[in-house]
Amino acid sequence: MTSPSSSIMPTYFNRLPVAFERGEGVWLWDTEGKRYLDAVAGIAVCGLGHAHPAITRVISAQAAKLIHTSNNYEIPNQEKLAKQLCTHAQMEQAYFCNSGAEANESAIKLARLFARKKSIDTPLILTLRHSFHGRSLATLSASGTPRIQEGFEPLVARFEYVDINDAEAVTHYISKEKDALVAIMLEPIQGDGGVRIASNDYLQFLRKMCDEHDLLLILDEVQTGLGRTGKWFAGQHAHVLPDILTVAKTLGNGFPIAACLARDKACNLFGPGKHGTTFGGSPLACAVASEVIRVIEEDNLVQNAQEMGDYLQTQLRKKLASLPGVVEIRGRGLMIGVQLDRPCLDISRKALAQQLLINVVANSMIRLLPPLILTQTEADELVKRLSVCLHAYYDTVSASNAS
Ligand SMILES: Cc1ncc(COP(=O)(O)O)c(C=O)c1O
Repeated sequence: MTSPSSSIMPTYFNRLPVAFERGEGVWLWDTEGKRYLDAVAGIAVCGLGHAHPAITRVISAQAAKLIHTSNNYEIPNQEKLAKQLCTHAQMEQAYFCNSGAEANESAIKLARLFARKKSIDTPLILTLRHSFHGRSLATLSASGTPRIQEGFEPLVARFEYVDINDAEAVTHYISKEKDALVAIMLEPIQGDGGVRIASNDYLQFLRKMCDEHDLLLILDEVQTGLGRTGKWFAGQHAHVLPDILTVAKTLGNGFPIAACLARDKACNLFGPGKHGTTFGGSPLACAVASEVIRVIEEDNLVQNAQEMGDYLQTQLRKKLASLPGVVEIRGRGLMIGVQLDRPCLDISRKALAQQLLINVVANSMIRLLPPLILTQTEADELVKRLSVCLHAYYDTVSASNAS
């Protein structure tokens, strides 16, 4: 456990008091042999669950052949993965890197180059309040969340923030900043910000505005991409294609890999020498990601996420209806939020007693992101454990209010 005497920088000092030794499917075992139902999946990463045999196989086989060369050489595994991703996302080009922040950093750099092409010197990118795009300087500047910006000023210029689903605010910026605005960047469903859903109408409106005013639409699908919301990509719920799409998390099932995809006017902005990475898109990382996509296809996991997500929401509504503290249950596919009426940051700690892993965002929202392979029996178990946990939580709260 990380303690004040640890040699690790204390960015995660409120770690939960449990360490895991092994996993299988949606289950994790701690160092004492206790089994936990994992409704976090490494924060939407382990879509295929833990220790998936196909992923273990491909990691071993590719590692035995070749792990890394350099982007100075051709990498056939990159070509294959780029085609798979571009087919599902209806995009045209891919740039590979190692994390969601890097993918978004790439997207922001593309927007800057797009601005240069239009002779705009101080380009403005519009993003959303409560957004989360990463922890690098440009991506935290893009994130409309003061909590992650504090201490890192001066921020990277120029980002402005509007509320999700507020079309008028976008129109306002388009007219006020018509000589500077180059892109609109958003998560189709905000994760860290509290499972806030951009409506289909809003996404279609943004697409229309970007077409009419020659702006780039950037969808950050780092968390929502690759089946999580019941479509390959969440923009597809609204039939909206972005110009740039970023993807990470599920792509490697835990092996670090991410991608920035481009289409149409966003293609070919990175010329030789304009961007690069030592580790990104290695033969190993790309082999793993190709296999992740193959398994998602073969096992119909996008459809499973849709069906199990609907089932889970229905069951949660039934079982949690008697709790006055549950304000709303919302989400798409297997990205579900249970909004409580009060801050509940300690509830993931309390859920450990039920051998359940959950995550809290935006202070009072329980975020459920179980693996895409979730079965109905496991969904029932999740609801049962969460319901026990929440009932116990509210009993404690009312007991302490009474005393
Ligand atoms: C929507 C979104 N964008 C970007 C990121 C940053 O990804 P990473 O932590 O891999 O840099 C995250 C991480 O949670 C995310 O949810």
